[in-house]
Amino acid sequence: TLKIAVLVILAYLLGSFPSGVIVGKIFYHRDIRQFGSGNIGTTNTFRVLGRPAGLLVLALDILKGTVAASLPVWFGLGLPHYAILAFGVAAILGHSFSIFIKFAGGKAVATSAGVLLAYNPSFFVIAASTFVIIMLLSSMVSVASMLGMILITLFSLFYRDPFLTALAAALTIFIFIRHRENIKRIRQGTENLVPFGWYYHH
Ligand code: G3P
Repeated sequence: TLKIAVLVILAYLLGSFPSGVIVGKIFYHRDIRQFGSGNIGTTNTFRVLGRPAGLLVLALDILKGTVAASLPVWFGLGLPHYAILAFGVAAILGHSFSIFIKFAGGKAVATSAGVLLAYNPSFFVIAASTFVIIMLLSSMVSVASMLGMILITLFSLFYRDPFLTALAAALTIFIFIRHRENIKRIRQGTENLVPFGWYYHH
C-alpha cells in the first residue's frame, strides 16, 4: 500500500506538470496565462503561441494522463483494470490543481483524453472523434469539450463498464465546472472561435 500511495502521488505530480506554461516560457518567453483565455491548455497555447507549441502541449498533456494512468500496470501492482481510472483521476486533479502553479490549472480535457487512451484505446478513438466532429461544427473547443463529454458518457454505456461510465459522468460535471467562464462567453456570443469549422464560416 505504501507503493500504491507513492505512485498515486507520482500520478498527481505528473498531471501537475504545466506543459503550456513551461513550453511558453522556455521556447517563447511568454506566459500564456497572461494572454487569450488565460488558460494553460492546448487551445490557448494554439491561440497565443501557434501550431507547433499547441501540438507539443497537446501531446504532453495527453501523454502525462496516459503515463500516470498506466503506472499501476507498469509497476505490476496487481490491481484491477479500473485502477487505471483512479490513477487517471489523480493526474487530472494534478492538471487542474497543479502544485507547480499555486494549485491553479487547466480544464481537464487533454489529460482526460490521455487517461481514456490508457484505459481503453478503442473508446479513446470514439471520444476523440466525437470531440473533433463537434469542434468542426461549432468552431468552439469549449463546446466540443462539454457537449463532447455528454455524448462520450452516453457512448460509454455501450461498453457495459460501470467504472468507465461513472468516470465519464464525473468528468462531464467537472469539465462543465472548469468551463464556467466559457459558458458565460457562449451565452453572450463572445466565445473565442477556432478559425475553421462550420460555425466560423457562417
Ligand atoms: O482546452 C480547453 C478548451 O475546452 C477551452 O479552452 O482556452 O478556449 O478556454 P479556452
